[in-house]
This record gives sequence, structure tokens and C-alpha cells, in this order.
Amino acid sequence: MTDQRSLTLNENSELVCELPILSGTTGPDVIDIETLYKQTGMFTFDPGFTSTASCRSNITYIDGEAGILLYRGYPIEQLAEKCTFLEVCYLLLNGELPTPEELKEFQGTITMHTMVHDQLTNFFKGFRRDAHPMAIMVGIVGALSAFYHDALDIKSKKHRDISAIRLLAKVPTIAAMCHKYSTGLPFMYPQNQLSYVENFMRMMLATPCDDFVPNPVLVRALDRILILHADHEQNASTSTVRLAGSSGANPYACITAGIACLWGAAHGGANEAVLNMLIKIGDVSNIQTYIAKAKDKNDPFRLMGFGHRVYKNHDPRAKLMRATCHEVLNELGLHDDPIFKLALELERIALEDSYFIDKKLYPNVDFYSGIVFHALGIPTNMFTAMFAMGRTVGWIAHWDEMIADPEQRIGRPRQLYTGSTRRDVPADHGQTKA
Ligand code: SDX
Repeated sequence: MTDQRSLTLNENSELVCELPILSGTTGPDVIDIETLYKQTGMFTFDPGFTSTASCRSNITYIDGEAGILLYRGYPIEQLAEKCTFLEVCYLLLNGELPTPEELKEFQGTITMHTMVHDQLTNFFKGFRRDAHPMAIMVGIVGALSAFYHDALDIKSKKHRDISAIRLLAKVPTIAAMCHKYSTGLPFMYPQNQLSYVENFMRMMLATPCDDFVPNPVLVRALDRILILHADHEQNASTSTVRLAGSSGANPYACITAGIACLWGAAHGGANEAVLNMLIKIGDVSNIQTYIAKAKDKNDPFRLMGFGHRVYKNHDPRAKLMRATCHEVLNELGLHDDPIFKLALELERIALEDSYFIDKKLYPNVDFYSGIVFHALGIPTNMFTAMFAMGRTVGWIAHWDEMIADPEQRIGRPRQLYTGSTRRDVPADHGQTKA
């Protein structure tokens, strides 16, 4: 919606330019600076995009001050409690919750695409067994476009929809294969009679030598965890997917770019870093030492799982993740899990410390997820792959929205140049004998 209001820039009481102010359905207004350079010859400067809206979007809304997260308008708390992950996938992709018939068809279609082309298994052999699963995920998901030449026309909604189904269906299979490859155990094929999460847990944790009996409490917990990770507006990896997609790259390449970006410890790699940090802290008696390190400007150590660019109040997902953590640990008889107790104590101490209070550093979605994954028997180096499994639907939804957006053009930011101005290569350069 374009407001009648505008921002006027004056210099020496000379009107420099007038910029329209736009309003969304909720959240901060934006200053439309598309004509700023044309009018002023100047760029804006915002290296971390802390004050920059990159696009219009109808998918997810975050109010960082109030600790609110909505997927297509529905609060994350209600979705986590009342919906399944596949219902939330349908919602994020289509804008509305599915009817029972729509859900049945969606689930059935996903199930029919969970297997990967058998030749894809050859790609794994090129990796060392100790390769990080995220390195393998980047390689294998990126290779998918080599198998689907039949549907790579991104201007075709039909092709975009089948690519979305293929990615949603195959990423869990590939993630489980990454784990199996690292253990030397055989790949497990999906089984069509299992649900999305049951299938993943069986491919990930079972072997051909035993029957897999899904624990409904653990299945529901993982399903909820995937809901909590499904989308988060213009975070680093989603913005990466959008930027890659703006060049016309195929969906598999774009999602691969998102996986690569998510791997960073400041982003989706934080869940793995949290568990490693808790193991390093080891005991409640060491907490203050690490809190002091986190506060020390000269120490690069940060309290992993704390802080967020947008949430300056509690991350609503962290509270839900903590509750899920309790549930899983109780179900597994691990309520005395020392790592979980250490995490609870670390959270309590940090939230009483003025450094964290003043800087509004609260636990984020990654703080408890590592503990739950650990309790579910998922190895630490697979935690970020789990995050990628949940976030694939959000990446696809934003990619699809961007492609369909009439305003979208190739993303091409400018810069504030601080390097050398023009200079000549010395006349005698290269003349000197070696
Ligand atoms: C995710 O964007 C998303 O939505 C991401 C995500 C999603 O769903 O996609 O929510 C998922 O990535 C969650 C974040 C996971 N990362 C971590 O837990 C890593 C630890 N957190 C930090 O690295 C940091 O808080 C970030 C990266 C999350 C946010 O960084 P910002 O917004 O750039 O904040 P900043 O680095 O400018 O920090 C502000 C201040 C600094 O101190 P000053 O320079 O102002 O004195 O707070 C300090 C920082 O030093 N600070 C921390 C800290 N996080 C910020 N100090 C100690 N420990 C921390 N964790």
C-alpha cells in the first residue's frame, strides 16, 4: 500500500528528493528508496541490512519487540500445538491451511517423491566418510537439478510446484543418507506407509536388521521442531535463496545456496555450536567463567544460542523448544540429563546478568534444539541438517513468491567504495629482470 506520506531530504534548504512511505498490513512502514540514486546520486548504507526491507512478502511476520512469530497470520504457538509439519508446509506454500482432502492429497504426493534417483547414491562415494553432513547436503541437493531436466522452467508454476514437492520429499531422505554414509551403515529406503517424520526417523536411526517402531511422543516432538524451524522471514539463508533465485537459477541450486548459508555458526550452525559449547562448559561451576568470556570484548567467544538480530524479547520458538525438550527427556527418562540441567542453569544465570538484559540477548531457537536432537539420538554434526530439513519449505515458499513477484528483478546491491582511486601501473613494471 502506498501511503500519501513521503520523506523529503533537504540540503541547505534545497529540496534534494522526496521518497514515498509504504505501509504493510502490519509492522514498520518502509521508505521506498528505489529512486534515491536517480534523484540524489547517493546510495543508502546498511551492511547487515539492519534497517533494510528487501522485498514485499505475505509469508511470515515477526515482531521482535513483542516476541511474535506468525506463519501466514497464524501464531507459531497455535501451529505448533494444533498442526502437523506437513499442514504447516501446505500453509506456507499455499497461504491457507489445507482441508482434510487437500492434506491427504499433499501427503500422498510427497510420499510418492521421497525416493531419490538411484544414481544419486554414487555421488556419496566421492566424499570422505568423515565429511560434515552439511558439506554432503550441499553437494547432493545441488546435484538434484541434474536429474530433473523435465521441470526446470521457473516461469512455469507447474514446474515450480513439482520442484517444491521433490525438494520437500527428498531432503529428509538425503539428510538421512548423509548420516548413514558417515557411519558406514547402508542407506535406508523410505517406506510409504510411514508418516513424513516416522519415515525420516526410520531412515536416520534404523538399520535393515531391525524393525523400526516409531515412538509417537518422539515423532510428535520432531514434527513440532520442524514446524518451529519452517520459516523466519528474510533471515540470512532465505535472503540467500531469494538472491540466487533472482538471477533465474534453478530451485535446487537456490535451495543449495540456502543450505550453504545456513551452515554458518552465527545462523543455523548455532545448534551444533550450542551443544559443543555446553559440553565444553561441562559443569555449572564453570558457567560464570564462560559468561565472563562472552562479555569480554577481547574474547571472540559468544554464548551460542543467545541473541538475535530481530528478537529483542524472547524468541517464541525457544520457549516452545524448551517445553519440547522437557517432553522428550521425560519420555526417554533423561530428565536428569546433565547437559539439559546445565542449559537451564546457564539460561537462568545469563538472564539475570545485566550484560544480557541490557543487550536484550535471550535464548533463540537454537539454544535448546541441540539438546533435543542429542536426546533423540541425532549426532551433533547432523543438527544443522535437521534445521535445513525444517527450513526447506520456507526457502521454497520465499523463492516461489519472489519468482511470481512482478516487482522482482535480479538483486544487485551497490557499495561504499573505500579502495584506491585510479592509478597507473609503473612504466618500468615488468621490465626488471627476475
Ligand atoms: C538463527 O535471522 C534469523 O531469523 C535467524 C534464525 C532463523 O530462524 O533463521 O532465527 C536462526 O540464526 C538464530 C541465531 C543463532 N546464532 C547464535 O545463537 C550465535 C550467537 N548469537 C550471535 O552471534 C548474535 O546474537 C546473532 C548473530 C544471532 C545476532 O547478531 P547481530 O544482530 O548482528 O548482533 P550483534 O552481533 O551486533 O551483537 C549486538 C551486541 C554486540 O555487543 P556490542 O558490540 O554492541 O558491545 O550483542 C553482543 C555483541 O557482542 N552479542 C553477544 C551475543 N550476541 C550478540 N554477546 C555474547 N554472546 C552472544 N551470543
